[in-house]
Order: sequence, then structure tokens, then C-alpha cells
Amino acid sequence: MNQVSRLFKNINNNVFSVDSETIVHYRHFYHLENWLQQRFTEKSSKKRIYILAMVALFFFLGGPLFVLRTISILLGTSTGSTGEIAAIMSANNSILIYYFLSLVSAAGLGTIIYQSQPTHLSLSQDGIRYIYNHLFYKARGPLLEWKNINNIYLEKPNGKTSPDDFLLCFNNVNGAPLKLKLGSIPTVDERHRILKGINTWATKVARDAEIIGFLEPPADHSYTELWLQALSAPPKREKLKPLIEGSKLKDGDYTVLNAIGVGGQGTAYLSLYQTEQVVLKEFILPVYVDISVRKSSLERFEREAKILQQLDHPQVVKLIDFFIEDHRGYLVLEHIDGLSLRQKVEIKGKFDEAFVHELAKQMCVILKYLHGLSPPVVHRDFTPDNLIFRNDGVLKLVDFNVAQQIESTATGTVVGKHAYLPPEQFRGKPTTQSDIYALGATLFYLLTGQDPEPISVSHPKQILPEISSAMDYIIAKATAINENDRYFTVGELETDLANEYLSNQKL
Ligand SMILES: Nc1ncnc2c1ncn2[C@@H]1O[C@H](COP(=O)(O)OP(=O)(O)O)[C@@H](O)[C@H]1O
Ligand SMILES: [Mg+2]
Repeated sequence: MNQVSRLFKNINNNVFSVDSETIVHYRHFYHLENWLQQRFTEKSSKKRIYILAMVALFFFLGGPLFVLRTISILLGTSTGSTGEIAAIMSANNSILIYYFLSLVSAAGLGTIIYQSQPTHLSLSQDGIRYIYNHLFYKARGPLLEWKNINNIYLEKPNGKTSPDDFLLCFNNVNGAPLKLKLGSIPTVDERHRILKGINTWATKVARDAEIIGFLEPPADHSYTELWLQALSAPPKREKLKPLIEGSKLKDGDYTVLNAIGVGGQGTAYLSLYQTEQVVLKEFILPVYVDISVRKSSLERFEREAKILQQLDHPQVVKLIDFFIEDHRGYLVLEHIDGLSLRQKVEIKGKFDEAFVHELAKQMCVILKYLHGLSPPVVHRDFTPDNLIFRNDGVLKLVDFNVAQQIESTATGTVVGKHAYLPPEQFRGKPTTQSDIYALGATLFYLLTGQDPEPISVSHPKQILPEISSAMDYIIAKATAINENDRYFTVGELETDLANEYLSNQKL
């Protein structure tokens, strides 16, 4: 018993050694369990009606009297009843007893059947065996040794077409084959681990090539499919509630310290990973909605993760990890110690031109990097909120939630803060030049402390005459409505910035 408990402690901490043994969930009633779990956590009017009906039946059969009588007999205060009440009870007692007995025996039988099923599967260098890790019953099943297995194959029961109904069979030379229902191995990851176990330890056993296709993760391995399975369980936390200080995530790897920003899809939290500060950016995923809605919200989360994953620049926020837990997606990001440009302006007021000039140069470096990738990345939300000025003076870009690889444009959606969006982005056709517009609009904000007029050429000098004509010219050209009048590349803007004080004399 102890051995099994210890084993599971290890699994839960994810530290068990894959080299000597691999353990995966094997839940015979996986679909039923999920179904029940959903029923009992989801609030539905149907469920309320069922419960009301059960209560009504209980009263109808004289349940309360029966209970009262039983109690009084047990307490020895009653020797039986007289009159009308007794008449009702004697008629109903036998029905009630029958009713309760059948309930108890059904529950008992269900428990026995449930407890007799394995919960996990263990593969080791010696062989394969079931593990029983129930509340009151913990044991390891008999070992089927690899040397006694002569074939591993797939059985497709008649009339079944879903791979979840297929059986992975280990042919036992000494007895009945071990048959595993694929649907009882809940995740793609766990099926893959079984395959790895077979490939590592059952090297001498013959196997059908077919099994690989069913155990291997899909080739264009998208996490979305994998996550969808994790999301079939009901949520534990309340839907839109932010995490509180001290909440632990990913088996205790991360501890939430405090919220640092609330955005469209969730909250960003300052958190602790061991002794290091990180940011957890949360995406609340919809729960009781159609699978296609779940899928598209997962895809959005995955897209931000994948774009960030391929970026590597000292001025772009670094993605450390990402994971799904309890119907929320989390990006683990490096913590940038500083304030966003908007927060800075709100606290200290507008910036002077020399400082804006310095920041503009840094923005050009960031956009040159993103636009220079192949295919180029368009950030699409290059605003004072998403640029963080780190305390050591480095400007960093965050929030790739709506960023896009340029080749996959043609979505018709408008995203980003309106004052910073060029007209083509409103039309759903953002290009790298759209980020240049946003950069110009951001510079306008930093100089004046005001958000620019949406879809307009920005001229900070009209508000603050002391601004240089060169800076005014650069911002106006960056925010040109027509893409042909705008800077074509950030490089051009950068050159003008470098020559600002030279060209100042010319203009
Ligand atoms: N890595 C980070 N380091 C420090 N602060 C961050 C970080 N990521 C986000 N923030 C803060 O949280 C806010 C919201 O995060 P953001 O990624 O912009 O999400 P949203 O899509 O909700 O705008 C940001 O404006 C910024 O102030
Ligand atoms: Mg943001």
C-alpha cells in the first residue's frame, strides 16, 4: 500500500523517473466520470427539477414519518403508533424499505464495480501492469512481462468506428491478452508515453505498424487538441474571479503575488517561480460553450504563445513557458520591472522632446526587428499601454495578443485601441506600415499627453508650438492616412529621426 501511495505522490509532483517506469491514467469509466462531473458542477434547471422530483417522491411515500418513526424506535421512546398515522405508515413502510434497499444495493454494486477497475497503467522495463489507486483500495496488479508478450496489435470491435473504442492488445503467450481501451487513456500525451514505453522496453516484441498512428501525437502537433481534452473537466475556480495572492499554479511551481494589469481576456499577475519574479498573463477560457468557441479561444491563446516563442530580442518580452490550468491559459513571461509609457505619462505628465526622441529610436529598433522577420510580424497593438519602460532605461514591447504573421492576414476583425489604428487596419488589412502609424500616434501621445484623434494625421506642433518642425514632420508622415504617403519602412523613419536636428534646419 505504502509503495503505491509513494508512487502517486511522485506522479503528482511530476518527478518520477521516466527512465525506470512510466505511469499513465487508465480510467475505464472515463467518459462516464466526465459526464457525471459535468452534471454535478454545472448549474442547470433540469437538475433542479430532478432533485425536486426526488424530494416530492420522498414526501409522497411518507418518508419523513418513516424516518421519524425509525428514530423514535431506535431511541426507544416509541413502541409503535396508533391511529391514522400508523395506517399510512404500514401501507408505505414496505415500499419505502424496498426503495431504500434497492438504492443502497445499487450504490454498493456500483462502488464494487468501480473499485475493481484499475486507475492507472504502469510500463516498466519488466512489463506492463494495472495500478489501483482508489480511496480505500490501493494495489499494483500482476505484471505481464514483456518476454511473455508475443504481439502488440489493435483490435477494432465490430461496428465501432471511433478510435476511442479501439483496443490496444498485448498478446499473452500464457493466457488471455491484455486489452486496453484507447478511450480510457485520456490524453494525447499519455498515449504517446505508452508508445515511448513500448519502443524503449518491448524492443523484441512484434507489433503492428498501425498502433503507431493511434498512439503518436498528430504530426502538426497543435496544443489546441490536447488542451481541449483537459478542458472537458468542469472548472474549479469561480468563472471571472481573479486569482488571489498566494494562489499556487502548475503543481505549486508558481505563486501569485499580485495583479499588475487587467486586460481584455484576463489579468496579468506578478508571480514567483522559485526565487525569480515572473509575470503570468491569464486568459479566461469560456466553459459551457460550444466546442468550436472553446477551440477558437484556445487557438487565440496558442497563437500568442507561438508568436512569442519564436521571438528573441532584448526589447521584446520573453516567453518562459505556457500552460493551461482550470479553464484558464497562462503565459509565463519575464517580468519587466518598470511602468508602461501610459502609466508614466499619467504619473509624470507629458515627456519632453529629447526623451521622446530617445524612446522613438528604441521603438524603431523593436519594429525593425519584428518587420524584418520572415514572414514579418505585425504587432497591431503598438500603443503606450504595451510599451514598458524598464527602470534601467530599456523600452520593451509586450502583448502579442493580436499580433500576426503577415502572410496570414485577411481576417476581417478590428483589434487594438482605436486612436492608434490606421484606416487599413479598420478595414481588416493590417500591414507592417500599420505599426508605423501606431508608432507615430504613440509619439504624439508621449509629447502631448493626449490620445490622438482616430484616423487623422497627427501634428503635435499644433498643440505645443515648441515642438520642433522635424519631430512634427516625422509624426505626421508616420500617421499619414494613405499608405503611399506614410513611411514605407521603419528604417526610413529611423533615418529621419537620426537626421532630425539636421533636417530641422531644412524644414
Ligand atoms: N512581462 C510583463 N512585465 C511587466 N508588466 C507586464 C508584463 N506583461 C504585461 N504587463 C502589464 O500588464 C498589462 C496587461 O498586459 P497585456 O499583455 O498588455 O495584456 P492585454 O492584452 O490585456 O492588454 C500591460 O499593459 C502591462 O502593464
Ligand atoms: Mg495590452
